[in-house]
Amino acid sequence: MEEKIMLTGIRSTGTPHLGNILGVIIPSVSIANKNTKHSSCIFIADLHSMIQIEKENNMITIKNNIYQIAAAWLAFGLNIDNCLFYRQSDVSLVTELAWYFNCFYPYQRLALAHAFKKEIKNKKKISVGLFTYPILMAADILLYNAKLIPVGKDQLQHIEITRRIANYFNKKIGKKLFVLPNAFLQKNMFVIGTDGNKMSKSKKNCINIFSSDEILKKQIMSIRTDSKSVKEKKNPETDYIMSLYSLIAPVDKIEIMKKRYLKGGYGYYEAKIALYEYIIHKFSSEREKFFSFIKNKSLLDHILASGAKKANRIAYERLNFIRKHLKFNPII
Ligand code: TRP
Repeated sequence: MEEKIMLTGIRSTGTPHLGNILGVIIPSVSIANKNTKHSSCIFIADLHSMIQIEKENNMITIKNNIYQIAAAWLAFGLNIDNCLFYRQSDVSLVTELAWYFNCFYPYQRLALAHAFKKEIKNKKKISVGLFTYPILMAADILLYNAKLIPVGKDQLQHIEITRRIANYFNKKIGKKLFVLPNAFLQKNMFVIGTDGNKMSKSKKNCINIFSSDEILKKQIMSIRTDSKSVKEKKNPETDYIMSLYSLIAPVDKIEIMKKRYLKGGYGYYEAKIALYEYIIHKFSSEREKFFSFIKNKSLLDHILASGAKKANRIAYERLNFIRKHLKFNPII
């Protein structure tokens, strides 16, 4: 039976920010690259991005963002021989599996999902797509029998729903048709944004390492601090600049900065410059690769098309197998 060690997706809602990079991209690339041929799946979840198609995301932005996301994964060294790397909508068989799941999963249970409950409270009009979002995500995962799913904390309930669906069908059929996936959370990887909340595109508090030097500097300069003067001693435990620096700098550099905070005579402006310079230094090769991929869209198209071709082959076989077991054979 086809199985994948790891699978993850990122929505094409914008260029991946530092939170996405540290929390999902770096750990996923490291797992994917360690393993053998096509043993992982990484995809750009453009279908999931369409849930707010009427508002922030029109199709042109989604399309542009697909390139940004693809370039970011490749810039971080994803080895596409080890990994199926594709655009979700290019393997549209997944929507058929999602439909089967839709027909079984209890409406009442899906209505309890946190993300849905929050949206429906805040917005007058939400789409059915937003409601069934977790079902499509379950299909993404179960179509390939993926075991490990690197995601952010906000996605844990979706993995739970996926496990529930897998379990339900395994029991019904009396056979292990679906592997039960596990979420893979980066420990201690709470990346705060410039305002001290969790870094998130919707909160407009992101640090985007793939923006120009000027914009990146502006983002870092906007990190919120208290109003202590240069002279005063500062608390490294509660400061946001220090928190971000600690996620990326080596231990000795972190210690030096901590001492400067505690001693006084070191201003937040200097700390911000240190953070900015360290980011530029640490990610210089990734930034260079990113910009060169972005300039070469036909190469990105080619990479995604060849990933989709391989993924479609596997997905088709798997879906036929699933259809047979579910005794759903509308097509074959
Ligand atoms: N919902 C995920 C997010 O917003 C993206 C996603 C879609 C995904 N399908 C997935 C992640 C399957 C992991 C596995 O972050």
